[in-house]
Amino acid sequence: MSVTDPSTGTPKSVAIIMDGNGRWAERRGLPRMAGHRAGASAVDRVTEEAARLGVESLTLYAFSTENWQRPRQEVDTLWKLLVRDLKRRGPKCIKQGIRLRAIGRRDRMPDVAVRELERVERETAGGTRMTLCLALDYGGWWDFCELAERIRRGVRDGSIDGEPFDPERLRELLPSGIVPPVDLLIRTGGESRVSNFLPWQITYAELLFLPMLWPDFDETALADAFREFSRRKRRFGRLDPRAPVATGTPVAPVESGTESTAGPGIGAIGDRRLR
Ligand code: FPP
Repeated sequence: MSVTDPSTGTPKSVAIIMDGNGRWAERRGLPRMAGHRAGASAVDRVTEEAARLGVESLTLYAFSTENWQRPRQEVDTLWKLLVRDLKRRGPKCIKQGIRLRAIGRRDRMPDVAVRELERVERETAGGTRMTLCLALDYGGWWDFCELAERIRRGVRDGSIDGEPFDPERLRELLPSGIVPPVDLLIRTGGESRVSNFLPWQITYAELLFLPMLWPDFDETALADAFREFSRRKRRFGRLDPRAPVATGTPVAPVESGTESTAGPGIGAIGDRRLR
């Protein structure tokens, strides 16, 4: 479901790939960790401003399943920074009415990170102004593999029946299902790719790739991004951008056997009932 506030054009669900910390530091002759620390300050600014502007869900890619492949020292220091950040973010979130949640694997992160995370999740559970979701040891392939495992277990223990799946039912089983469909995906740092981030949720997201490095991202950059978002025409496959959208709405089937006959070697994917 599209969730844009029509009065302000503010996207309700925003996701950010915070890229460019390392380069920000290197350009200043500083160690890469100084860039990650400056990145954490940008998280503060952007979280506060997003909540103020009326965003309901902000999801930040803080550590990917692929980030374990960085040098051991950077990985260790990043987790230390994340733990320290969680400790001070908890009280801030409570004060700002923000609920903090996380998506991703918890079986590989340091125990102290799991403990802090669970504590902050518990303490901020009453926050209703905005949900700040940290993607920690998160990756889209893991998300889908874990979804498949949950289905396998559900079928085995009988909690999943033989009814056909629809997007809503699948989402309930998806580990990252707490993140609503993303309206606007921002990536800083100049690369134009989505890097295994929220493949389910970004299906109809507007994508914004910015050259700016993450530690330089501030309130003005967020407002500019929202302005650009409000200029985009979102049609969700329809002709009228104002038409309401329901994800996975069942469509009346047409007779089978009416598929167009594609030439040799040309295949088609999709719901053939629609043709
Ligand atoms: C990518 O920049 C960034 C990361 C892998 C880590 C993101 C972490 C933070 C912003 C720090 C704190 C986060 C929170 C939630 C408090 P990069 O290191 O790949 O930059 P580069 O491409 O310039 O090397």
